[in-house]
Amino acid sequence: MKNKDVPNEALLLGADRSEMKDLIDFYLNMSTNEDKEDLYSMARRVRDSNDGPRVFLRGLIEFSSFCRNDCFYCGLSVRNRKAVRYRMTEQEIVQVIRNGYAMGFRSFVLQSGEDPYYLAGRLSELVFSIKSLFSDIALTLSVGVLNSEQYLQLYQAGADRFLLRHETADEEHFSKLHDANQHFSIRRKSLETMKRIGYQVGAGLMVGSPYQSVDTLTEDFLFLRELSPHMIGLGPFRPHINTRFAKFPYGSVDHTLVLTALCRIMLPNVMLPATTALASCDIQHRADAFRAGANVVMPCLTPQKYRDAYAIYDGKLSSSTEAAENVRFLINQIHDLGLSAEMSRGDHFDFRERKSD
Ligand code: 5AD
Repeated sequence: MKNKDVPNEALLLGADRSEMKDLIDFYLNMSTNEDKEDLYSMARRVRDSNDGPRVFLRGLIEFSSFCRNDCFYCGLSVRNRKAVRYRMTEQEIVQVIRNGYAMGFRSFVLQSGEDPYYLAGRLSELVFSIKSLFSDIALTLSVGVLNSEQYLQLYQAGADRFLLRHETADEEHFSKLHDANQHFSIRRKSLETMKRIGYQVGAGLMVGSPYQSVDTLTEDFLFLRELSPHMIGLGPFRPHINTRFAKFPYGSVDHTLVLTALCRIMLPNVMLPATTALASCDIQHRADAFRAGANVVMPCLTPQKYRDAYAIYDGKLSSSTEAAENVRFLINQIHDLGLSAEMSRGDHFDFRERKSD
């Protein structure tokens, strides 16, 4: 299938619903990598000319595997009785940050299931003490859906960013992936509220999630364009054996790369991670994501003894080598592509005037 003109920012910003659907459909159905190379090289060019040929590292700490929700795709679902539950203590979390700081990290992501223990106020105390100890770091939270007061409290405690994937912008599709207490409208409202408060926000979705279609992806792109988040996480769906989606097929790596490139072109300054789900398919896919316009990566700093328990999906990338060695490997992988590896706060372009890069 050849050839549409490679889309540029104006085309993606101006597309109506049916044009957007047409574009997504066209690129998802291109058969070979050579066909897609024009798209990827455009995405790289957009990244490099806007923010330079560089990749930002953020240290990821998965601090609790407890969750009150039932997301049908996730191994941490409250309904999974076989899941191993752990919760790091405040002291353990601070120690991991101390070690990461010594390695050079100035950007950290605290991620967990929706764990009532931490959400009942302890998390904002923790955020406050971390920011008092390490005043020059950026702190990102990825802890689920909260109410406006909680988002505000965490922001005032010092959190800089918040990741909350919207998962799908199609209300009906959303209800096929989640328990009845969750709705897309709540995710959207949460993301809008966080933006208003002053967070740098991240949305995102799984590529190839059950019941996803070109129509639901079109809704995703229209939603992302309107929200214009600071970050978008895209990873392929990976079935987990103890979930009700155990028998669904894996999401496509190729589709993930195509959608990554389209996001880069549509929102030139957005932070786009090479996600763990992608790297879990094959560590080389991280490089493919950077070739398709990604500019962020979040190496796991979670202590070894907890890593296997944070099993969102099967076969999650988890290495027996210590964090420092993994980070060296990653930095080499980035350098091999002719990109620089940045350990600074790595704020989104719009936030750089206020805070140092
Ligand atoms: N496969 C891929 N990604 C998953 N996530 C959760 N479960 C899976 C899965 N089975 C993603 C969701 C969530 C993020 C933390 O991990 O998009 O928002």
